[in-house]
Amino acid sequence: MTIGRMPRRWSEQMASTILITGGAGFIGSHTADRLLALGHHVRVLDNLQKPVHMKGKPAYLSPEIEFIEGDVRDKATLAGAMRGADVIYHLAAYQDYLPDFSTFFHTNAVSTALIYEIIVEEKLPVRKVIVASSQFVQGEGLYRNAGGMLVTPVMRPLEQLERGEWEFQDADGTALQWLPTPETHANPANAYAMSKHSQEIQALRFGRRYDIPSVALRYSIVQGARQSFYNTYSGACRIFSLHYFFDRAPTIYEDGGQRRDFVNIHDVVDANVLVMDDPRADYEIFCVGGGRAYTVAEFDRIVARAFDREGIEPNIPGAFRFGDTRHAVSDITRLRSLGWAPQRAAADSVREYVEYLRAQTDIEDILEYAEATMKQQNVVRQALA
Ligand SMILES: NC(=O)c1ccc[n+]([C@@H]2O[C@H](COP(=O)([O-])OP(=O)(O)OC[C@H]3O[C@@H](n4cnc5c(N)ncnc54)[C@H](O)[C@@H]3O)[C@@H](O)[C@H]2O)c1
Repeated sequence: MTIGRMPRRWSEQMASTILITGGAGFIGSHTADRLLALGHHVRVLDNLQKPVHMKGKPAYLSPEIEFIEGDVRDKATLAGAMRGADVIYHLAAYQDYLPDFSTFFHTNAVSTALIYEIIVEEKLPVRKVIVASSQFVQGEGLYRNAGGMLVTPVMRPLEQLERGEWEFQDADGTALQWLPTPETHANPANAYAMSKHSQEIQALRFGRRYDIPSVALRYSIVQGARQSFYNTYSGACRIFSLHYFFDRAPTIYEDGGQRRDFVNIHDVVDANVLVMDDPRADYEIFCVGGGRAYTVAEFDRIVARAFDREGIEPNIPGAFRFGDTRHAVSDITRLRSLGWAPQRAAADSVREYVEYLRAQTDIEDILEYAEATMKQQNVVRQALA
């Protein structure tokens, strides 16, 4: 909490001007809708990045939004969008699995540095900066070994995965017990996660140093309508849905026992608005997760049920992607302590996504695109056992 700063609730004050970078995207557009409903003026800076926006400016964007098409990497454009803003949500990001490492830092980390640089240089009266981080920052997260000690494994060796042994093990081969992972843990394993970790550090350090209340939100896997169908990053919900839509069995990697943490978009918007309003959130990182773990196999059944395709069994051939996280589940105690709690289950999110998918007119193109990109990336391997 900021010493000497009076707690204020923005939404109880006069309407604010709120800038959302990446506001044409999934989380940004839902956040924009909520902020508009609360009476704020919403400005979006977004470059309509492909492949997220294959068809230009999305139709779901409210006409009440002040829309600026531009790149967060361009200082003059960013500064122009920031002038007059009371609050900034920095959601624009490069998200992919491709090995163009520097792009992650340019788009995600350097843009964050620019935001603080511009506020300081121009003495902008920004009241809060909220940056989007990711559960990926936690990497493989926390585990407990047989002796009860906390351990932080890094990566399962390729030879182990080729034997079809999926769980993390001690040196003597005993399985380690996964745990929900809190904000105190960071072990980013790829360029995306490293860039997100940098955004967190900047928000906390620049924020405190220059007295700019700042918050970093570590989202788990966010689900709901408006997730891009063309973004390879949007994962299992998209792939499983497209398969069941076309009466096909999806392939599940490893043994389907990987645990994941899904959070509904409306719960994420609740968290976004809460931390804007609540000064207790300042200079903190919060995990924003669904509050329970689902195995991938369990999630597959949720999607199959949403399409009424429970008769189709998934393929589980023992294939794996080297470098995949085994279990990723966040501990959301810290955000709960501010009064937030997830209100929706994964089945609700899947239902919203399925309705959105069914409303599209070009589903064949979407599936074709998804399959072509996966083949091109050629990242799947097979256990030898
Ligand atoms: N969706 C999730 O499950 C999830 C999980 C963890 C973290 N996050 C983070 O939340 C934020 C929002 O994610 P999302 O799911 O809404 O993604 P999204 O791809 O739907 O939206 C991101 C938006 O940023 C824009 N953008 C990308 N590069 C830009 C640039 N250089 N300049 C301006 N705009 C640019 C894109 O056009 C897009 O509209 C991101 O920072 C992401 O890393 C998302």
